[in-house]
Amino acid sequence: SDPDPLQDFCVADLKETITLNGFACKPVSQVTSTDFFFDGLTKEGNTTNVFGSMVTPGNVLSFPGLNTLGISMNRVDYAPGGLNPPHTHPRATEVGVIIKGKLLVGFVTTENVFYSKVLKAGEMFVVPRGMMHFQQNVGAGKAHTITAFNSQLPGAVVIPHTFFASQPPIPNEVLSKTFQARPDMAKSKFQHPI
Ligand code: GLV
Ligand code: MN
Repeated sequence: SDPDPLQDFCVADLKETITLNGFACKPVSQVTSTDFFFDGLTKEGNTTNVFGSMVTPGNVLSFPGLNTLGISMNRVDYAPGGLNPPHTHPRATEVGVIIKGKLLVGFVTTENVFYSKVLKAGEMFVVPRGMMHFQQNVGAGKAHTITAFNSQLPGAVVIPHTFFASQPPIPNEVLSKTFQARPDMAKSKFQHPI
């Protein structure tokens, strides 16, 4: 859902200090083959954290060749029982494929309908733009997925981070009323969002 490109490519110059909607292009004379290839998703993410999952992004920030092209991918690794916690992508629809393992995959609509299915290797899913979604490893071993987005930088609003790890924190009164829960539950256990 990003805007259409106005040239063949515009490899991001992430060091350029001029800010615009996207990134400035590095001069074509400095562009090489390496700008159009990215091996970051070959590496297994470290799932040793409270959720037992890790997102490795292949977006414009890690793969500058994607700048202006309206597309990106992630790898997500899951320990047994690991959860990619509920989140939304404000700028993209997500489509994914299970590479390994068995995952419960689902999203919730604006009408609060929950659509979900347990998927295994080779099977695909889609998450319409902006819908709240998660994946949980329900198999015995490790799992991983590759996801793709129609944005060079889909963004992720991670629900637990948004509520419990914002800087500065949301007042406890707001959190306890929102979740109809005791104020002491609002103490943050979460790391800063990725
Ligand atoms: C999975 O939901 C992802 O955002 O990569
Ligand atoms: Mn997602």
